[in-house]
Amino acid sequence: MSTTRKAYRAAILHSLADPAVAGIESSYQYFEDGILLIENGQVAEVGEAASLLPKLNGVDIQEYRDALITPGFIDTHIHYPQTGMIASYGEQLLDWLNTYTFPTERQFADKSHAADVAAIFLNELLRNGTTTALVFGTVHPQSVDAFFEAALALNLRMIAGKVLMDRNAPDYLTDTAESGYAESKALIERWHGKGRLHYAVTPRFAPTSTPEQLDLAGKLLREYPDLYMHTHLSENRKEIEWVKELFPERKGYLDVYDHHKLTGPRAVFAHGVHLCDDECKRLAETGSAVAFCPTSNLFLGSGLFNLNKLEQHGVRVGLGTDVGAGTSFSQLQSLNEAYKVMQLQSKKLDPFKSLYLATLGGANALYLDDRLGNFLPGKDADFVVLDYNATPLMSYRMQQARSLEERLFALTMLGDDRAVKETFAAGVSVHRRDA
Ligand code: GUN
Ligand code: ZN
Repeated sequence: MSTTRKAYRAAILHSLADPAVAGIESSYQYFEDGILLIENGQVAEVGEAASLLPKLNGVDIQEYRDALITPGFIDTHIHYPQTGMIASYGEQLLDWLNTYTFPTERQFADKSHAADVAAIFLNELLRNGTTTALVFGTVHPQSVDAFFEAALALNLRMIAGKVLMDRNAPDYLTDTAESGYAESKALIERWHGKGRLHYAVTPRFAPTSTPEQLDLAGKLLREYPDLYMHTHLSENRKEIEWVKELFPERKGYLDVYDHHKLTGPRAVFAHGVHLCDDECKRLAETGSAVAFCPTSNLFLGSGLFNLNKLEQHGVRVGLGTDVGAGTSFSQLQSLNEAYKVMQLQSKKLDPFKSLYLATLGGANALYLDDRLGNFLPGKDADFVVLDYNATPLMSYRMQQARSLEERLFALTMLGDDRAVKETFAAGVSVHRRDA
């Protein structure tokens, strides 16, 4: 195979480590006039233009002015079928599910509807600079086929699964423990490891699965190596009370999942807003991850995520949008609201920690940091070109900024899809704002 090489020249910023562990200064690398060299869809080298240019004889160089190249954003929790019901008024979690979510998800029995929404959803992710996401389908296996078909055509690294729910939901939206197991198995055989796709065993949340279904979910995880487990945990106080009533023999919400062997590496729990110390400890011990979904937690009135507490216990944390309870596909907007969630708890969110959460931290939560999250050689060339001048206000604000830190912070506060000039997946342009 002939080698395809292409270089990109702009300011380049990427995370090297968690600032909470390495300290802020050692957590990132920045090249004011940088070159990102891509070879066959992977990162070959990153560095200062002055040192790399002499080695690039003949390589085509694409230059961007007033732009910042970062790794593609990673969304560790989102529901593609809920794209069309984003911004639905007035309810907290359980009423919101019954009023809006379940009727919306019913439509995904129709594969062509699912394909239409999958295309809109992926386009929206890429417009927002998100190149990898951990995605809920619906209970219908065809919803996952439609999603993976669309993601494969774009050669994206995506993780998704069919929802398992065999109780406490309308009949039109339930499977059984056995059918959920068999349908998941068929999807795993069809999709897991194809292109850059991964399968996630996806029980919706403890209240909508019987213990039998949770057992079979655990069985699938043991039958196939490297599967993901994706569910919700401890999001809303009424939900937590309900779990206690449904599983009185368990110590708490996390213990329901733990008992059925659903914790562990590549298990990702969305929300975790109301976790106790023991639960944080257990999440860390098992290598499980939590998806922090600030726009959703605020929108549904679920509560304030305690990032520092999870961090202190050593729990892996990624950033999620949780669309359609989340109100934006943009990880920049998620970081904006994450900052406010921290402020309401008299805590800080440093801009370099924000960068980490949206990129390498997400990759770490998903155990994909050997493939994604920064520009170390050999990683997938999934990256975004961000525009400091996306709006007149951003442009004016950037003129006042005196440091990278200040510019990065303003980008996360003021930026959204308009700030994403171009998105690349495996070295190929998959979204151009100005095309
Ligand atoms: N808990 C169970 N299902 C859902 C869902 O679809 N969205 C959110 N935010 N929480 C859930
Ligand atoms: Zn969710």
